[in-house]
Amino acid sequence: MKYIIFNWKSYLNLKESLDLSKTISGFKKSKKFKIISAPNNFFHLALSEKFKKNIFATQNFDLDGRGATTGSLDISHLIENKIKYTIIGHSEMRSNYGETDKIVRKKLELSIENKLIPIVCIGESINIYKSKKTKKFLKGQINTIFKTTQKYDQIILAYEPLWSIGTGLTPELPEIDDICKFLNKILEKYTFKKINILYGGSVNLSNISEILNLQFVNGVLVGSASTKISFINYFK
Ligand code: PGA
Repeated sequence: MKYIIFNWKSYLNLKESLDLSKTISGFKKSKKFKIISAPNNFFHLALSEKFKKNIFATQNFDLDGRGATTGSLDISHLIENKIKYTIIGHSEMRSNYGETDKIVRKKLELSIENKLIPIVCIGESINIYKSKKTKKFLKGQINTIFKTTQKYDQIILAYEPLWSIGTGLTPELPEIDDICKFLNKILEKYTFKKINILYGGSVNLSNISEILNLQFVNGVLVGSASTKISFINYFK
């Protein structure tokens, strides 16, 4: 079974999010795909109350905690809204809000404590890719984010090259598979009940089948294409 994560970012308004969620709710239960939508945080309650069988993720939460923390999104509010999954360390959180691997590690710990299933994003810049240091860089990210002393329950790890997100560019298919295989290997020293490695970055209707056919890819994290009904219907 492949994980299909729709990251709607801030593309959609409430009506559009309701419409796409309705389409997804009409899909027959599938053994092939597990669809998880990450709508704008503000719409979670409206969507989850209306589409009880759909699975939702939050795009982020904050570390500040509950109380006098104006503007923050506390993890307890996600739990209250029955959200099961959370994206952590998305490249846009990293570039727009300075989220570092150390912050990602703290968020990972907090999500585990609160029994939210984390979707952790990692990925290299174009310069790292061009200088063929991707594996070394990803290994460094993994070592900062995960602890060998911890027993992790379920983790989803999304490999998203920064230069691929929103650009229409992707690594070659064998490169994607090779990186996911490599990640599998280096994750062996950590303890997970379940670990799934996804690919993200410019996934669309023309490359989805090939990417999902790759041996070491357990699913995809999709941004802009996932806001289109034609793409969503692929998983019908
Ligand atoms: P994209 O975004 O599919 O629009 O490239 C992917 C992501 O942000 O995770």
